[in-house]
Amino acid sequence: MKPIKVGLLGLGTVGTGVVRIVEGHQEDLQRQTGSAIEIAKILVQDKSKLRNISVDVDKLTENVWDVIGDSEIDIVVEVMGGVEATKAHILTALGNGKHIITANKDLMAMHGAEILAKAAENNCDVFYEASVAGGIPIIRALVEGFSSDRITKIMGIVNGTTNYILTKMSQEGAAYADVLKEAQELGYAEADPTSDVEGLDAARKMTILSTLGFHANVALSDVEAKGISKVTKEDIQYGKKLGYEVKLLGIAENHDGHISVSVQPTMVKNSHPLASVNGVFNAVYVTGEAVGETMFYGAGAGELPTATSVVADLVAVVRNLKLGINGRTVQAPYKEKKLKTDEQ
Ligand code: NAP
Ligand code: HSE
Repeated sequence: MKPIKVGLLGLGTVGTGVVRIVEGHQEDLQRQTGSAIEIAKILVQDKSKLRNISVDVDKLTENVWDVIGDSEIDIVVEVMGGVEATKAHILTALGNGKHIITANKDLMAMHGAEILAKAAENNCDVFYEASVAGGIPIIRALVEGFSSDRITKIMGIVNGTTNYILTKMSQEGAAYADVLKEAQELGYAEADPTSDVEGLDAARKMTILSTLGFHANVALSDVEAKGISKVTKEDIQYGKKLGYEVKLLGIAENHDGHISVSVQPTMVKNSHPLASVNGVFNAVYVTGEAVGETMFYGAGAGELPTATSVVADLVAVVRNLKLGINGRTVQAPYKEKKLKTDEQ
């Protein structure tokens, strides 16, 4: 059986998980797709770096062209992060007919429309399940599971790092800076953790969820975002005394096309299920006119949970390749509805 060849951009926290799952679940993946899947090339910054996974050194490259320009590679999995250079690599790869899987919410929140347009032009798939809420298949739920409904509200905890910090501050009285360092060591935080703690990472994820859920062109600049860097141990202890937990909540509402999206630290009554979402876990409430309220819960960051979503996207692309329907199941936001801002 000729394997489907995959190029990986990045072998950090998520990339390592992708290699582990593709290798460890190879038989299951073959059963599901009818193909062997081979990670043929891996882009890294530094080939000589000591890694906590053993990979064939010949597969490692510091030259992106070895991945996006390799005619044998069908699918490029982008797990390196960054925006402008990464966008250029992805657009080039799409131009070369490669299907794309990315975990990069920064990129999708800022340039998703352009990337999806380029994918459509080239009949390529772009999947990005891992960009929001790690191992929770929330994008598939919105795009496929609720395709019959009108979603009115998406609310939840969509950043694992800040939830980890708030939980440790609340339960152990830990110091903010110490727990942030721990979250970085565990591979939860972004390369620049400012985007986690200042609410920008959550804002990017809420941009993606509200774009898909409300079929609207929500821009990152439409999201009002506040982070947790100013939340003190005293705030948390005071809230607890009154029966509340502090959580960084993303809230997106659609009232007849009037959309508001925000991210802010919020006092959540401790009887509410979101108050007991702890550590790196995320939870997203989706409310639809017909379905009512639903809740999705799971690990929001980290090596294997995130890689689970990436490899699920890989399965989807390989199945599409087999069926010859690539480019037709792109998770594209609808274009026809305009966002009504507060000024309108
Ligand atoms: P990471 O641990 O920092 O790994 C980044 C990898 O990309 C490294 O292997 C690095 O190479 C490589 N890389 C970075 N810049 C490069 C460049 N300019 N040229 C070549 N290689 C480059 O990052 P991560 O935590 O895996 O996150 C990757 C992406 O997934 C980000 O977009 C992030 O937002 C997203 N994400 C992360 C998580 C999570 O839990 N960590 C969850 C969901 C989504 P070296 O190894 O040689 O340094
Ligand atoms: N830094 C992100 C978080 C990674 O902590 O949620 C997962 O997207």
